[in-house]
Amino acid sequence: MKALILAGGTGSRMRPITHTAAKQLVPVANKPILFYAIESLVAAGATEIGMIVGETHREIRDAVGDGSRFGATVTYLPQDRPRGLAHAVLISREFLGEDDFVMYLGDNVLTGGITDVVRGFREERPDAGILLTKVTDPSAFGVVETDAEGRVVRLEEKPARPRSDLALVGVYLFTPAIHEAVRAVAPSARGEMEITDAIQWLVDHGYAVRPTVVTGYWKDTGNVTDMLEVNRSLLETLVPEVLGTVDEASELVGRVRIEAGARVERSRIVGPVVVGARTVVVDSYIGPSTSVADDCRITGSELEFSIVLNRSRIEGVGRIEASLIGRDARVRRAEHIPRAHRLVLGDHSSVHITD
Ligand code: G1P
Repeated sequence: MKALILAGGTGSRMRPITHTAAKQLVPVANKPILFYAIESLVAAGATEIGMIVGETHREIRDAVGDGSRFGATVTYLPQDRPRGLAHAVLISREFLGEDDFVMYLGDNVLTGGITDVVRGFREERPDAGILLTKVTDPSAFGVVETDAEGRVVRLEEKPARPRSDLALVGVYLFTPAIHEAVRAVAPSARGEMEITDAIQWLVDHGYAVRPTVVTGYWKDTGNVTDMLEVNRSLLETLVPEVLGTVDEASELVGRVRIEAGARVERSRIVGPVVVGARTVVVDSYIGPSTSVADDCRITGSELEFSIVLNRSRIEGVGRIEASLIGRDARVRRAEHIPRAHRLVLGDHSSVHITD
């Protein structure tokens, strides 16, 4: 069984972070989101991976390489621009050959993994397998309608008036039957070749499409709020360990991981929290659901429910919550009169000021 990972999206809803980094490489719990997908596929036995890449292909190649460190082999498949998931299958025809494959959207996170679903698919081998989950806002997803026996009747991409609350999760299992289906679909209203339409084609032509309702945690990390939420969820499984140094005047409470070379002084850290390698935390409080990446400096500040990326410095500021702070960012107190907010923000930045 092969795998196709889609890592070509531009991440427009995550700007400005995605001006300088591919959205699939934004770390959650200090690991790029894309790595969770690769690890899940390898765990399920799909080690021959085709990676659909777009504008950010260089960065993705630098991060993933040939896949050997994941126990996989990765073949890069360039897509000239995001033309839809069915288009991604279309351009992967040669790589996929006559094999069955798992298609995994590189910005989706399923904390329960996909090993059981892949095993079930291999045993029963329907023509296609889809994963579903109940959501409160189905119109943001592909929506699936099933009949009384639980068979798939209709799939619609982001319908204004959803017929069910079952959304398509971004992991699909296919046999080569999908190739004829993707050739048959026309671009949708949003100008993309939708995999949802290709699966509908399979249903309409009498192919067996098996739905599996996912009960575990799933999130499509399209925006900052989702990212913080995934970070919160992944930190729940963090392995607590102190590899760096924590002085006597500091206190660590709950699930806290301090990576090698990190230093914590006169601070209180309430987990789940991960503090990256060589990061220094002094006279500060770091509260639950926070990931601080490598080589950062947090001094005289309070931080909670946030993600801080590599080499950033937060110095002498009050409390920061629900924030995503990019690489090499600097947040500090303005000491001089007038007491004013002074900002140098990248394009598409977003700041909430409270006083
Ligand atoms: C895509 C699919 C949609 C699915 C979603 C899951 O949406 O088209 O059917 O529910 O992924 O993440 P997109 O991320 O392209 O908006």
